Amino acid sequence: MKHFLTLNDFTKDEILEILDLAIKIKKELKNGEIKQRMKDKSLAMIFEKSSTRTRVSFEVGMTQLGGHALFLSSRDTQLGRGEPLKDTAIVISRMVDMVMIRTYKQKDIEEFASYSNVPVINGLTDEFHPVQLMADYMTMIEHGKNKNPKVAYVGDGNNMAHSWLMLASKLGFELRVATPKGYEVDSVILDQAMQNAKKSGAKIVILNDPKEAVEGCDIVTTDTWASMGQEDEKAQRERDFQGYIVDNKLMKLAKKDAIFLHCLPAYRGQEVSKEVLEGAQSVVFDEAENRLHAQKGIMIWLDKHKEV
Ligand code: CP
Ligand code: NVA
Repeated sequence: MKHFLTLNDFTKDEILEILDLAIKIKKELKNGEIKQRMKDKSLAMIFEKSSTRTRVSFEVGMTQLGGHALFLSSRDTQLGRGEPLKDTAIVISRMVDMVMIRTYKQKDIEEFASYSNVPVINGLTDEFHPVQLMADYMTMIEHGKNKNPKVAYVGDGNNMAHSWLMLASKLGFELRVATPKGYEVDSVILDQAMQNAKKSGAKIVILNDPKEAVEGCDIVTTDTWASMGQEDEKAQRERDFQGYIVDNKLMKLAKKDAIFLHCLPAYRGQEVSKEVLEGAQSVVFDEAENRLHAQKGIMIWLDKHKEV
């Protein structure tokens, strides 16, 4: 059973194949062609954290494909009252065709997948956000930024930073990650990326200086300083991340035609200035829309490869 838990489980060709499909179905949708590629199929969406984009894009995506999505909040299911993941996985996967989970620990989603009869998609964990990176790369393709791109990630060494490490190291492009001291990426995930990079030719550079990271880059990206589950650290993080805002001054160090990406939600005046987020180089709303198309590609691909 092929799941979508981290980009590390996919080859470069598989990632590009899914995105080709996503770009094709986006075109079809814009032309008014509706192909119900998942007619009468059901997707269970389990949310243990909040969401706007992930919920809407998976739910609408499934409807457009002729299927149905169920929103399951852990607050309202027996999961929230202590029913084991194992039992939940066995029961739900006997009834639906696919499961999407947003939760805390990557190991929980792996455990769920190990008991599931149907493909499981990671809709964000503390460690990774792989569906977001598929939309991000799709946006890079659409903006002509996929030929040997240099990407700068400025900010927290979190799930987004880790997912960029996986994407860059699988596809073979240059990624510079600049975090404050003490907020570096996970060393095990970095090691994995370095292993991948040896095969793909990717250049991974780990820094603490945002300027050095952004210098001459084609893509600049960042993410919130306090992720879901880190609400108590917010004030401390705001102090520790001073100097890591992506503002016009920092963007000027990138190439003239560089684009700005952000998975959203964005906090203006913290990790990104209002001017950059809403400015001409920002493609964050294309990126957000592409969640819908990229995830439709992922769901169709997983459904097709179910028996492998
Ligand atoms: N980028 C993203 O995953 O957004 P949501 O938290 O709104 O789903
Ligand atoms: N790093 C953020 C991403 C939100 C989409 C979080 O985990 O909260």
